[in-house]
Amino acid sequence: MEIASRPETGRILVVDDEAMMRRLLEKLLRMEGYEVALASSGEQALAELSKHGADTVLLDMRMPGMTGLDVCRQIRAHRRGLHTPVVFITAVNDRELRRRGMEAGADDFLSKPFDEVELLARIRNCVRVKRYYDNLAQQKEQLELAVNERTAALNDAIARLTQSQLDLRNSQEETIYRLSRAAEFRDDETGQHLQRMSRYCQIIARHIGLDEVTCELLRIASPMHDVGKLGIPDRILLKPGRLTPDEFTIMKGHAEIGYRILVGSDATPLKMAATIAHTHHEKWDGNGYPRGLKGEEIPLFGRIAAIADVFDALTSARPYKPAWLLDDALQLMRTSRGTHFDPTLIDVFFAALPEVLAIRERFVDAPAPHPVGEQHP
Ligand code: C2E
Ligand code: SIN
Ligand code: SIN
Ligand code: SIN
Ligand code: FE
Ligand code: FE
Repeated sequence: MEIASRPETGRILVVDDEAMMRRLLEKLLRMEGYEVALASSGEQALAELSKHGADTVLLDMRMPGMTGLDVCRQIRAHRRGLHTPVVFITAVNDRELRRRGMEAGADDFLSKPFDEVELLARIRNCVRVKRYYDNLAQQKEQLELAVNERTAALNDAIARLTQSQLDLRNSQEETIYRLSRAAEFRDDETGQHLQRMSRYCQIIARHIGLDEVTCELLRIASPMHDVGKLGIPDRILLKPGRLTPDEFTIMKGHAEIGYRILVGSDATPLKMAATIAHTHHEKWDGNGYPRGLKGEEIPLFGRIAAIADVFDALTSARPYKPAWLLDDALQLMRTSRGTHFDPTLIDVFFAALPEVLAIRERFVDAPAPHPVGEQHP
């Protein structure tokens, strides 16, 4: 490879406590074209290495203070990932010392007095190996960088996809809400009824331990409970006074009409909405409409919606009646336990009352001359 074709360049760190030896090696290496750094102790060598690094370390084994073995171990311990070749220079041909040098991580050994050509050949070899490792490390780093970039791009794409799914979900939710408003705004001009009612449903669902996805679905589906009011003429829906029995019969049709509008979809929120539209006026004691279902014959979501819907209808102004005082509304809710409402769910409703009232505070009816176009929080 290109770098290895000029192996005589490189930085060699010579570590020896004998000044004579340092000078001799320095001269030899400089003549060969190497850059040379000198250290007279192990401590100095490590300081030099951490500052400038080296392509090969020529290391004396026997030194006062830190021995060559110590230095070599330090290099292996602290310069992991950086290949730093270490060549030991031993005064004697000491097999035991060499074995320990190997264990400490040495790459090669030279004996004093050394043969110059042999020394240069070994150093050249070490520097080549060093270049090779450096190159590999660099390629690995570039590869990792590229991988990280791709990963970031992928994550970015996933995030955008998730966002667009969220947008779609939000727009579906908003579509549902706006269609529900179309049915509702004739008799509920501020539109806050749906905001409150759907959140009351969610609160009750949470308190009975339904999973969060179902609770959220219920919040999204319950605003459709009165879409059937679209089929009720103004003269009845907006009648300022009490309905005659015939008018009320027509009015009651909104449950069946809403059900027919919504039924038949495979989408979970719409299935849920169909059930709620159909059953939100059933009563626990069987005196509700349209089918006179009784107790647990009434689907759970319908029983929940009944409580949320009536509580909010009572405390809201309607064309036919002013808003009730909160205490009066709560009183009627309480006395309707077991007649109109599922007794267990009414208990849950009262247990959750602080949360219900917080929603009521948050979505107060403001006078709104133009019901259409008001924002959907
Ligand atoms: P809404 O006004 O949203 O009321 C929903 C439910 O809340 C009612 O279902 C009823 O159970 C309860 N509710 C609301 N206001 C009162 C009230 O002043 N007293 C009592 N005891 N309960 C109340 P309901 O009765 O089946 O009525 C369904 C829908 O029929 C009402 O929805 C409303 O749109 C209409 N409606 C009911 N009664 C009258 C009326 O006397 N005049 C007119 N114009 N519309 C009425
Ligand atoms: C080292 O020996 O200095 C690090 C390990 C290697 O790159 O070979
Ligand atoms: C409403 O006005 O949304 C509630 C009326 C009903 O549930 O019939
Ligand atoms: C309905 O009662 O309107 C639908 C049946 C069900 O979902 O339980
Ligand atoms: Fe209704
Ligand atoms: Fe309602």
